[in-house]
Amino acid sequence: MDIAHALTWLEHSPLGALARSLGVWSYGIINLAHILGITMLFGAILLLDLRLLGAWRSIPLSAISRPATTVAMIGFCVAVMSGLPMLSVKSTDYIGNPFLLIKFPAIALALANVWLVHRTEAWRAHRTRDLMPAENRRLAVGAILSLTFWLTAITAGRMIGYW
Ligand code: HEM
Repeated sequence: MDIAHALTWLEHSPLGALARSLGVWSYGIINLAHILGITMLFGAILLLDLRLLGAWRSIPLSAISRPATTVAMIGFCVAVMSGLPMLSVKSTDYIGNPFLLIKFPAIALALANVWLVHRTEAWRAHRTRDLMPAENRRLAVGAILSLTFWLTAITAGRMIGYW
């Protein structure tokens, strides 16, 4: 199924019908939830990534990583759960929108980067011991990629409406 078919299917799905039936305020309220989700996601990620890049070295990484990861995960879930109904209201309007084709691959790359960082020995070790310089550098590369992919997704998400 290509993207145009997927968007047409989504618009005609029960989710699309439900999203269109909710009344005039619903899109604005769901959009607000989307923005709150994004602020939770990116705010938490920004703190963690800046720490991985060397800021606030006096605070142990493990003291930041756990709350930041939890808040980012909740924010991501809120963004997905609000984004899908927003998209389904009139999905076919987005056919051919290039920013959609930047946003979703950027989110996929950002998630792949999270998966890769969490699999490193440095990430596993940071909870139990201080990291060596090479391990800090490995996590800093992950932080730069993370900021690049998430900022690309946010920029493309904002630009979708201007196409
Ligand atoms: C399955 C997941 C998601 C879907 C289906 C989705 C869908 C949408 C839709 C339909 C819009 C409105 C576009 C328009 O202006 O017409 C939007 C806006 C936006 N999205 Fe998402 N989104 C998702 C996840 C995310 C994530 C994870 C981020 C952040 C990294 C994000 C960032 C944005 C931004 C910044 C806007 C602009 C908000 C505004 O200015 O009102 N989205 N999204």
